[in-house]
Amino acid sequence: MRLILLGPPGAGKGTQAKFLVERLQIPQISTGDMLRAAVKDGTPLGRDAKQYMDRGALVPDEIIIGLVRERLQRPDCARGYILDGFPRTVTQAEALGKTLEALHASLDHVVSLEVPTEDLVLRIAGRRTCRNCGAMYHVRFSPSQTDGRCDACGGPTYQREDDREETVRRRLAVYADQTAPLISLYEAQGLLRRVPGTGEIGEIFHRITTALGA
Ligand code: AP5
Repeated sequence: MRLILLGPPGAGKGTQAKFLVERLQIPQISTGDMLRAAVKDGTPLGRDAKQYMDRGALVPDEIIIGLVRERLQRPDCARGYILDGFPRTVTQAEALGKTLEALHASLDHVVSLEVPTEDLVLRIAGRRTCRNCGAMYHVRFSPSQTDGRCDACGGPTYQREDDREETVRRRLAVYADQTAPLISLYEAQGLLRRVPGTGEIGEIFHRITTALGA
């Protein structure tokens, strides 16, 4: 299955993608995670990307498109994948369409996770991520057992640089301006599955798998 998880910052794309990986046995392709790994490794891509990410702007299309095109051709994508955070602009969506066409493949579903803005801000403000293994927590909704430590590997948890309030507001505005138009684009193609993204994490997962028939 080839699937896009669409939704604003904090909608739960990363959280739900982890469960979908287990259910569907296909990889999660998160452009945000790929960029953060490049920043952590101090690669030229990471140094470039950081300037955009820290101020809540999108990394230029040509950088992202090349990154995803290369990733989709790896063997673990043969049975499908979950795109998390890509595409994010109409240009990226068009490039994805061309890449799929060249690979004689097509998308199966686009899940749009719908969450009110006030919930998004609350979720992002409380998000903590493990520096070692990437496990995700929320100080109020899903805290780790020991404050500041990951339950899975014991590594330190941290707040993402771009999760500060002013940057979050910018990311939400960028989403509304550049990414939200993809909703009508994929609706017109008959691929859009609208899923309410509020409530328990397990309940939302159930809604998604029902929408996908998975
Ligand atoms: P990226 O990492 O993709 O960030 P994002 O899209 O802003 O999404 P988030 O990771 O903030 O949220 P999420 O929807 O995954 O929510 P999560 O599951 O973590 O991108 C970061 C930056 O990289 C961009 O700003 C840009 O600069 C760059 N970039 C990335 N892709 C790009 C692209 N294609 N083009 C250009 N630039 C790109 O959940 C959030 C919190 O809520 C967590 O704490 C979680 O525990 C909690 N939570 C989840 N579900 C629930 C629930 N049901 N109830 C209560 N809490 C919940």
